[in-house]
Amino acid sequence: MKVGQRAIFSLALAAALLTGCQTTQQVQRFGRPTARMLGLKLQDAKLDYVTALFEVEVDNPYPESLPLVSLSYSLTSDANMFLSATPITLTTVPANTREVFTLQDKIVYERLLRALNAKAGSTIPYQADLRLWVDAPDEGLVKLPSSSQGQLALPGAPELAVGEKVYHALDVIFVPTPQDVVEKMLELAEVKKSDLVYDLGCGDGRIVVTAAKKYGCRAAGYDLDPQRLKESLENVQKNQVGDLVTIEQRDIFTLDLSQANVVTLYLLPSLNVKLIPQLEKLKPGSRIVSHDFAMEGVKPDKVVTLTSEHDDTEHTIYLWTAPLKKEPRASGIE
Ligand SMILES: C[S@@+](CC[C@H](N)C(=O)[O-])C[C@H]1O[C@@H](n2cnc3c(N)ncnc32)[C@H](O)[C@@H]1O
Repeated sequence: MKVGQRAIFSLALAAALLTGCQTTQQVQRFGRPTARMLGLKLQDAKLDYVTALFEVEVDNPYPESLPLVSLSYSLTSDANMFLSATPITLTTVPANTREVFTLQDKIVYERLLRALNAKAGSTIPYQADLRLWVDAPDEGLVKLPSSSQGQLALPGAPELAVGEKVYHALDVIFVPTPQDVVEKMLELAEVKKSDLVYDLGCGDGRIVVTAAKKYGCRAAGYDLDPQRLKESLENVQKNQVGDLVTIEQRDIFTLDLSQANVVTLYLLPSLNVKLIPQLEKLKPGSRIVSHDFAMEGVKPDKVVTLTSEHDDTEHTIYLWTAPLKKEPRASGIE
């Protein structure tokens, strides 16, 4: 090493050492950030989600603002536990301040009630253990634990009356199938102009609208959620396929599927299995395609995967052809 280079290297080393010392000194001088949970409330219960509001006091001892990055928590009632994690967007604690924040998480209400073995409308004892992650200067991600306990009021869920039945929650919440996966599902089902396509739980109507637009076939979408039905009808209107597509508020488990040639599903594994007795009424040669979920006890004809350019995630599509090829279920129950 030449003299000049050695001088530069020494300077850089000294600077690095100084920065390191500053980090330690900073913690000593400013102390550590802390969080204190003040309370928890659930509100705004819908057919699908409820909003959890965590009131937390955060102390920022640094001379610069402190970004809150994410929140993970467990809610325990008796021996039952619910776990969740959520990112927090654009929340910072100003320099040298202690501030109270209300942090939110949207929770699938049905899942929360099931986990805590509780009923909407009741009040239960709870213990909440919160981990708040902050991006501390020089230190990076730091976990701030806090907790609270008391009584948690579970808001009453809205009621949805369809026909004779009253629903308090959906069997599965709305998550749309990315458009390129929709196209692949219809391609795999070899949809033809003469087909009648049913989408069970049609969401915003994207599958039935695409089938009608691309293949000129008739299609019917069924959903329970009034918001989704509204979106589907708007989608049909926007794409001018009202002569081919019908949208109806129906519980998919009460539908007669005997007229469909193609059935599309994006539900859950257990719901696919629950549909088997109805799917067995399909005409021979009819096709069923399911996004992401298999149907335990029925052998698929094809399973394909593709990475969607909309979410950069790998999706699986299952294809079955009627009559269904039943096989023993892993659980041994036929
Ligand atoms: C995961 S989304 C799939 C939406 C759409 N098929 C797609 O792939 O983009 C499931 C849909 O099923 C609906 N749903 C849930 N339970 C239902 C039931 N029992 N009867 C009718 N629709 C239901 C939900 O409202 C939701 O829109």
